[in-house]
Amino acid sequence: MGTSTIHKPTFLILQMFISPLLILCDDTTLAKSLGQSSFPSNFLFGTASSAYQFEGAYLSDGKGLNNWDVFSHKPGNIIDGSNGDLAVDHYYRYMEDIELMGSLGVNSYRFSISWARILPAGRFGEVNLAGIDHYNKLIDVLLLKGIQPFVTLNHFDIPQELEDRFGGWLSPESQEEFLHFADICFKSFGDRVKYWATFNEPNLQVTSGYRSAAVDIFRSKYQKKQGGMIGIVLYAAWFEPISNSTADKSAAERAQSFLTNWILDPIILGRYPSEMNDILGSNLPEFSNKDKDKLKSGLDFIGINHYTSYYVQDCISSKCEPGPGISKTEGFYLQSSQRNGVPIGEYTDLDWLNVYPQGLEKTITYIKERYNNTPMFITENGYGEVYNPNSTIKDFLHDVRRVNYIAGYLNALSVAIRKGADVRGYFAWSLLDNFEWIFGYTVRFGLHHVDHATLKRTPKLSASWYKQFITKHKVVTLMPGPNQQKFQY
Ligand code: BGC
Repeated sequence: MGTSTIHKPTFLILQMFISPLLILCDDTTLAKSLGQSSFPSNFLFGTASSAYQFEGAYLSDGKGLNNWDVFSHKPGNIIDGSNGDLAVDHYYRYMEDIELMGSLGVNSYRFSISWARILPAGRFGEVNLAGIDHYNKLIDVLLLKGIQPFVTLNHFDIPQELEDRFGGWLSPESQEEFLHFADICFKSFGDRVKYWATFNEPNLQVTSGYRSAAVDIFRSKYQKKQGGMIGIVLYAAWFEPISNSTADKSAAERAQSFLTNWILDPIILGRYPSEMNDILGSNLPEFSNKDKDKLKSGLDFIGINHYTSYYVQDCISSKCEPGPGISKTEGFYLQSSQRNGVPIGEYTDLDWLNVYPQGLEKTITYIKERYNNTPMFITENGYGEVYNPNSTIKDFLHDVRRVNYIAGYLNALSVAIRKGADVRGYFAWSLLDNFEWIFGYTVRFGLHHVDHATLKRTPKLSASWYKQFITKHKVVTLMPGPNQQKFQY
């Protein structure tokens, strides 16, 4: 996500004056509105990250190059000419970062495993034991601190060797490669990792073939012995019909289907969404019997990355301006953040991100109803700010708008839970400012500020706020022992 241009909102300066009041208001309102009962006692409160955006150490300890190492090194691909070679040096600073998590009081940490660190050349090379060792240490230290690892197998990075040989995800060979990688991860870490997500946002990233296979192998080889849950993480926005017309309401439904349901329906309901069939018909791939069998393994949970909402206008019954959503393969709708010039929610620095907390409640309720209340985790939710070289460190740390965003979305989440949604965790994106893909270091999502020259981490106001919030909603910590196993690979 996030491949759009960036605006600067005009109310930036005002925030300094009104912020203490806002904090007070929000906190008090939340304290009143969120009884202890809103979040189950075993609810996971965490922060999220991904390997390429955090780790750095891009050539350390036998890691192979991946697609992002290569892409980011090509001039012009990253807005500020940067790359993730160092990122926020989490590979070497994970102990310090776990301390930060400890002081936030979170009981879970969502991170991804760098495939090229485990298998530098996919199946065309050996397992990199130093990579295994790194994640073993990370997992063990987390568990000793009472922090549950919530592991994503693939968050956009794949070994460059596979990209070169197979064109990345375009070839079915990649599916075999991914299975091999997943198998090694389950085998190596599955005694301690109880939450696995196969892919991050395949709806924005890859085609359908890969999503169920790793689930199948986990179910048949590991789950009985190791326990744990396996799911997938999807990008899910909320779509409000721009008017009450039936056509716009159907367009909003189509938008959900073309963004999110096309991944979940086959896995959970065994078929493509009818809105998609209507438009794409025979262009949709057929499931083979083998596929159908694998799809039956389903999911233990749905991971939801939710940041924002949009208005949607129908483009079948009337002609639309050019814009996102209008093509046939997108579903013939026009997506917009505004209606008659009025934004759906408060503007932010990022033009794809408007603040509309009720969109989270609606998204959860929609997914709950469509998929029979399958357990859900909010695997990402967060607020990005554009780096402004004229700002002082004090400005960065005083991130009132992020506090208000997270407070609002947590409130919406608690409403959905009170109404019966089986949501089991919430992960703020992100623990630290980090490498924001094509935006490099120009966009900051962290609860902690990172000085990219010194890599010093400093808690922002949002970190203190989240800590207080978690304390109020006391979470349970579990402490299984560290890894004792040794494997031959
Ligand atoms: C992605 C993250 C990204 C975040 C903010 C999410 O959709 O999973 O990797 O940093 O959005 O753009």
